[in-house]
Amino acid sequence: MRRPWRARHERTSRWLVGLGMTWAMILAASCAGGPAAEAGPEEAWTRPSTLDEFFDGSWPRVIAHRGFSAEAPENTMVAIEKAIEARADMVEFDVLLSRDGEVVLIHDETLDRTTDGRGRVADRDLASLRELDAGAWFGANSSGERFAGERIPTLGDVLDATAGRILINVEIKTEAIFDLPNDSTVDEISALLATSLPGRVAEEIRQRGLVDQVIVSSFDPRALDQLRRIAPEIRRASLFDPELHAGRLPRQVTREVDAFGFNVGSRHLTEAMLADAATAGLPVSVYTVDDRREMRRLLERGVRAIFTNRPDVMRRLVRPESASPPP
Ligand code: G3P
Ligand code: MG
Repeated sequence: MRRPWRARHERTSRWLVGLGMTWAMILAASCAGGPAAEAGPEEAWTRPSTLDEFFDGSWPRVIAHRGFSAEAPENTMVAIEKAIEARADMVEFDVLLSRDGEVVLIHDETLDRTTDGRGRVADRDLASLRELDAGAWFGANSSGERFAGERIPTLGDVLDATAGRILINVEIKTEAIFDLPNDSTVDEISALLATSLPGRVAEEIRQRGLVDQVIVSSFDPRALDQLRRIAPEIRRASLFDPELHAGRLPRQVTREVDAFGFNVGSRHLTEAMLADAATAGLPVSVYTVDDRREMRRLLERGVRAIFTNRPDVMRRLVRPESASPPP
């Protein structure tokens, strides 16, 4: 919606201040060049509210990787809140299963790097995981803020806190995925799937009616295939694994699990991948890029979504804050 920049009755001096701000915006945008140059005071950024909107191709999209993980401990609630504040379009985080079948946010198979616990996540029940400190290891961020006492959140906690506020990419980690037995009945397979990580993720999303706001990705095709069997309506994205998928193009990688999107590391992205995905209208999202120049280069190559630990940096590059309405 176009907003009149100034009401007619405003004093001339205020109008001149407004005019100056407008020119400053235009100048800043034109100096930045490329996609940022498209931003203008009449086109305030608004967060896409559905996956359809996110992938509509209208703007490059900012995905906060593990939350705003440059400024807060990865995969914690505070990192997700900071990603929302930094005006990310979507937030990505990683999930594993606790021993008692709860979906928890953590990247590594073990607790050692990002908590004060030791050993495998899968060996602890949720009550025990909740006692751990998932923030102290991070130290201080650029404002001197510290995060001791931050806890490992569950997927349910995060979806409850963020529903309707930001789109989500749940990455299912392969460590929790198992092969389904060949010699089982349909009922046995259904029971196994229901308690598997893909099954539990599907349940948390469905319970909250968030199918149009959450996409699920994995390097492991078994995870995506299992999710498709349980909840075909939940959108999936294949993560390109350079060993598993060596020499394969996005359409081949996504076809086997009927994935909606293709996510790839910036080091592995090729022109052939971009061309192949474009042919099929397959969205390509690239991880993990924190350098502004690299972001620009990717956008110039046609990439429309980037995972970054620095959503603030990418937001300044792409559709930055528009002029505030006059006081
Ligand atoms: O989903 C993109 C990216 O998160 C995949 O790698 O290891 O950071 O989870 P990783
Ligand atoms: Mg991840």
